[in-house]
Amino acid sequence: MAERIIIEGGIPVRGEVQVSGAKNAALPLMAASLLAPGELALENIPDLVDVKTMIGLLEHLGVRCEQEKRLILDSSQADGWEAPYELVKTMRASVLVLGPLLARFGRAKVSQPGGCAIGARPINRHLAGLEAMGASVTLDHGYVVVESDGLVGAEVVFEAPTVTGTENLMMAAVLADGTTSLINAAREPEVVGLAEALNKMGARISGAGTGIITIEGTTTLSPVNYRVMPDRIETGTYLIAAGVTGGDVKVNGCVPSYHRALIERLEKANVRIEEGEDWLRAIGDNPVGAVDVRTDPYPGFPTDMQAQFMVLMTLSEGLCTITESIFEQRFMHVPELCRMGADITLSERRAVIRGVRKLSGAQVMATDLRASASLVLAGLAAGDGVTEISRVYHLDRGYESMVEKFSSLGARIWRASE
Ligand code: EPZ
Repeated sequence: MAERIIIEGGIPVRGEVQVSGAKNAALPLMAASLLAPGELALENIPDLVDVKTMIGLLEHLGVRCEQEKRLILDSSQADGWEAPYELVKTMRASVLVLGPLLARFGRAKVSQPGGCAIGARPINRHLAGLEAMGASVTLDHGYVVVESDGLVGAEVVFEAPTVTGTENLMMAAVLADGTTSLINAAREPEVVGLAEALNKMGARISGAGTGIITIEGTTTLSPVNYRVMPDRIETGTYLIAAGVTGGDVKVNGCVPSYHRALIERLEKANVRIEEGEDWLRAIGDNPVGAVDVRTDPYPGFPTDMQAQFMVLMTLSEGLCTITESIFEQRFMHVPELCRMGADITLSERRAVIRGVRKLSGAQVMATDLRASASLVLAGLAAGDGVTEISRVYHLDRGYESMVEKFSSLGARIWRASE
């Protein structure tokens, strides 16, 4: 049954929330279970639809998955090497099994991930890297078939950073013969987390977090226990909620050093930020300043925070621009925000936002994960009228218990079936 989220906005959200495990760290770590027979135990796995989808895909490949407090993944009996269309079409991150399957079994057949709401999102850089390591790549009726009789270490230069491309190649390289260098690699914390886990499993990876990652191939990896890092996009979303409602939110269990670019922009927008060892607090008690933003690969301003930050800018005093440099059409939230009274004009990859005094509640539709989060933020900020958000399945892919967490911060928000 499709569900809606209903919000009576205009209430400053106040209090503390505990951030959940990071979706974009958990997914590659789960795929890495294919590299090492035995039980990989992952802690702090978030309860998300995308995690359930990845479990379904890994079980299809023969990985035994058990989830009590920890998620246990045992690939000892894994023998599948095909990721079918009906699974991949619901989650592009399925492509993350490509590298591990190739490394473990010498072959992989993965449905070519289609485009999605935010862009074409090709995987050409993933495939070029695997070919550089000696794999043969063919396209067969919508499937990518990759085969190799033994991957060989190579120098792979990415024309531009790709997060899952870096993760896929890293996982392919750990069992390759020789040394692989990934040049112009993604520097996201989730990439560093994957490298850390693989090194605990016996891999020899250095440079993760920099633009050059070196992987010395080894023969076997053994599974370990590993704790998934906190979700930095969820953290940023709750901090911005304080800014858009004039509230005061403390996010516990996060890593402040992951948030330098966001904090710098929030402070420039007059949102006050306090920081502790494992917590961040945002206080929105000043008029919001208009601040230009351009999304960039980490450590730049995260594209996954663009839609959320835009909501704050719709309530700023003045004019600003948001430039989306990573994806070619990540502005699906704009028309919906305009229906709530925002003043935003688009051209190519740039949004020009003229601040308005207030947003109004409306019936709106979610189109992708982060756009749906921005509609929740807009609903929380909208002082007059009720906001009803449809297609909230997008939200459930990447935010654990969002309605409960915002309710605990005093918001009037609840779910209803369509
Ligand atoms: C990861 O996607 C994240 N997903 C995305 O988060 C995030 O928005 C993105 O990185 C950018 O930070 C996961 O980690 C599971 P990319 P990914 O490859 O790896 C182009 C969310 O909301 N490109 O870094 O797919 C691509 O089209 C999701 O949690 C190629 O052209 O992103 C895009 O324009 C959304 N060819 C840019 O590079 C390739 O082979 C960056 O993409 C690969 C990418």
